[in-house]
Amino acid sequence: MPNIAVLNGRLMPLSKATVPVEDRGYTFGDGVYEVVRVYRGAPFLLPEHLDRFARSAEAIGLPLTPPPARWTRWVTQAVRASRYAEAKIYFSYTRGVAPREHAFPAAPRPTRLITVRPVTPATHDPHRGVRVVTAPDLRWGRCDIKSLNLLPNVLAKQGAKRRGAFEAVLVRPGVGVTEGASSNLFVVLDDGTVRTPPIGPAILTGVTRQAVIAVSRRVGIEVVEVPIDLETVERAAELFLTGTLTEIAPITRWNDRVVGDGRPGPVTRGLMASFQTWIESQLPRPSTPGTRAARRTHR
Ligand code: PDD
Repeated sequence: MPNIAVLNGRLMPLSKATVPVEDRGYTFGDGVYEVVRVYRGAPFLLPEHLDRFARSAEAIGLPLTPPPARWTRWVTQAVRASRYAEAKIYFSYTRGVAPREHAFPAAPRPTRLITVRPVTPATHDPHRGVRVVTAPDLRWGRCDIKSLNLLPNVLAKQGAKRRGAFEAVLVRPGVGVTEGASSNLFVVLDDGTVRTPPIGPAILTGVTRQAVIAVSRRVGIEVVEVPIDLETVERAAELFLTGTLTEIAPITRWNDRVVGDGRPGPVTRGLMASFQTWIESQLPRPSTPGTRAARRTHR
C-alpha cells in the first residue's frame, strides 16, 4: 500500500515528492502544519483541523489558499489512493520558494503539501499508562499557532525519550504547566473535577482537547479551563494527555513520582471509553458487504 503525497495539487507517491532547497519552510521554518487521524478510511475532525490550519496561516500573514473545500478534496483523493484504513495525514503550507531574505518575498507562491502514511503501532499501552518528565517551556509567545518551528518541542521530546519517558510536559515560569511537546495536559483532582490550561498564546488549542472537553461535558464531567501550577499537579489524583495521535493517554508516572496507585484512574478510564464510543459514532457506518462504503473501508 503506497504512501501518498499531494504536492501543489498533484497526487504522487510520497517517494516522488520533493521541494526545492530554497523553500522558506526549509530555510526559516516559515509555514504552518496540521496532523489529522484517519479511522476506517475516514479523516477524523477534518473541518476542525482545516479551521485551525487557516487560522495559523492567517496569523503568519499567509492566508490559506485555495479555500479549505479544495484541501478537503485533495485529502479525499490522497486517502483513497493510499488505501489505508488507519492513517495519519500531514499538511504543510509554507511561504514558498524564494532567495533567502528574512522579510517576505514580494509575491509569495506558497508550497502546499499533504502526505498520507499508515499509523505506526502505538508506542504505549493505553491501559498501562505512560511516564512523562517535565522540561522548561522554551518556546515563543505564540504557541497557539501550529508553526513549523518545532525545535524546542523536538529537543524536549528527545530529552524525554532519552529518559525513557513518553512525553515531555512543558513548564513556563509565571504561567505554570502548559502542555506536552506534542499533546495537551489534563488534571483530575481528588473530587473528580477535571482541569486543563486555558486556551491562549501559551498552548496549542488541541482539536482532541476540544473534543475531550465536549465529550466530558456530555457525560456530566465539568472541565475547568484554568492555569495549572506544579503544586496542583503534585496533588492530582489522575493526569492524562490528549492529541490526534495520542488520543487519551493516562499518565501513571510524573518524573519519578507514581500518580495515584500507578494505574490509570477511573475518571480517565471512563473518559477513554466515552471518547472511543464518540469516535465510533462519528465514523461512517460499518458497511454491509458489497456497498461502496464497504469497499472503501475494508481495502
Ligand atoms: N501535535 N500541543 C502541541 C504542542 C501539539 O503539537 C499537539 C499536536 C497538540 C495536540 O493537538 P491535537 O489534539 O490537535 O492533535 C497539543 C501533532 C499531533 C504533531 O505535531 O504531530
